Amino acid sequence: MESFEFRNPTKLIFGKGQVEALEKEVPQYGKNVMVVYGGGSIKRNGLYDQVMKRFSTIGAGVTELSGVEPNPRLTTVRKGVELVRENNVDFLLAVGGGSVIDCTKAIAAGAKYDGDVWDLITKKAEVKETLPFGTVLTLAATGSEMNSGSVITNWETNEKYGWGSPLNFPKFSILDPVNTITVPQDQTVYGIVDMMSHVLESYFHPATNTKLQERMAEAILLTVIETAPKLLENLESYEHRETILYSGTMALNGILQMGARGDWATHNIEHAVSAVYDIPHAGGLAILFPNWMKHNIDNAERKLKQLAVRVFNVDPSPKSDRELALTAIENIQEFWTSLGAPTRLADYDIDDSKIDLMADRAMARGEFGNFRPQNKVDVEKILEMSL
Ligand code: NZQ
Ligand code: ZN
Repeated sequence: MESFEFRNPTKLIFGKGQVEALEKEVPQYGKNVMVVYGGGSIKRNGLYDQVMKRFSTIGAGVTELSGVEPNPRLTTVRKGVELVRENNVDFLLAVGGGSVIDCTKAIAAGAKYDGDVWDLITKKAEVKETLPFGTVLTLAATGSEMNSGSVITNWETNEKYGWGSPLNFPKFSILDPVNTITVPQDQTVYGIVDMMSHVLESYFHPATNTKLQERMAEAILLTVIETAPKLLENLESYEHRETILYSGTMALNGILQMGARGDWATHNIEHAVSAVYDIPHAGGLAILFPNWMKHNIDNAERKLKQLAVRVFNVDPSPKSDRELALTAIENIQEFWTSLGAPTRLADYDIDDSKIDLMADRAMARGEFGNFRPQNKVDVEKILEMSL
C-alpha cells in the first residue's frame, strides 16, 4: 500500500425524514444562511418548502442562490461569493446534486479569499479558510456530499477543473433516499455510471498489496450491478434508492482510496470533454472509460481479468488472460448500454473537429493518471476510439 493519512470530518445523517436534523445542526454554525440550489427540482418535489420550514423554526435569516447549472459555472460561484458578502452570510446549505454541492464548496472558499475564486480552483492560491457549509443531497452520484473535492467550469475559457482542500468537507450531509425518488431515469443512470466509475478509477492504481481495497471495490460494483436494473424498473423503490445512495457515498468518501489513490485519468479526460461540449459528466465517462481500458490493456490486464471473474462471474478456465480482460471491458460497456448510457461521442454530436482542443485541455496540468501516466498522444487516441 501507499502510506496514507485518513480523516473525514463530515457527519453523515442518513435515512427517512432526516431533514429535521437541520434544526439541530444549522444553529451550531450560523444564523444567516444562504441556501444554494439548482434549476428548480427541489421546488417541484417539495424539499424546498421542508427546508424553509426548518429555517423558520430556528429563526435563521435566509439568502438564496438558485439556478446552479449542471457542470456548475464560475460565473455562478462569483455571484454566490457576492451574495455572501452583501448579506453577511455565515453558513451555506447546498440542497441538490453534485453540481450544487461543488458550487457551494467554491463559494465557501471564495468568500474567505481576497482575490478571485478562480485562483483557488486553478491552484494559483491555497485555500486557507472557508465558510462552514452543510448539504441535503438529492442525487446519488458524485460522493461530493462526503468528500472535499469540487469541479468548476470556466465556460469563457472552456476549462473545467477538479480542486479540493482539507477545509472543504461539508460539516454535515443529510441523505434521505426519499429525496432522490424524483430523480428522472436519465440522471439516475448517470449517477450509477458515475459511482461505478469512481470505484473503477480507484481500482486501477500502482500500489501493491491492496487485497481489501480490491474486495471492497468489487463489493460496491456487485451491489450496484445487482440493484441498478431493479431501480430502473421501479424508480420509486425506497429500498433500491437507499442502496444506490449509500453506494455512491461509499465510492468516493476516501475509504476505498486508503492506501491507493487510484488512477483518475478518465475523469480528467471527461472534464476536458465536458469543458468544451457541456455534456453530462457520467455520459462522458460511459463513453470514455471502456476506451481508456482498451488503450491501457497491457497494464490493466491483471485487474481486468480479476473483474471478469469476481464481478462478472466469467469462467476463467477456457480463456487466456487477454480474452478475460477484454470480456470484462465488454461486460462493463454492455451493462452501461443496457441501462441506457451513451456509447459514442457521436451520441452527443461530437465529431473529431475539436480533438486537439479537448486534448490540450486534458493536458493543462501536464501528464496525468496515477496508474499509467497519459500524454497528449494517449488522450487523442482515447478520444478517437470514442468517436
Ligand atoms: O438543477 P435541478 O433542477 O435541481 O435538477 C438537477 C440537474 O438538472 C437534477 N436533479 C438533482 N436532484 C434531483 C433532480 N431532479 C429531480 N429530482 C431530484 N431529486 O439532476 C440534474 C443533474 O444534477 P447534477 O448536480 O449536475 O448531477 P451530479 O450529482 O451528477 O453532479 C455532476 C457534477 O459533479 C461533478 C461533475 O463533473 C459535474 O460537474 N463531479 C464532482 C465530483 C466531486 N465533487 O467529488 C466527482 C465527480 O466525479 C464529478 O466530476
Ligand atoms: Zn465522476
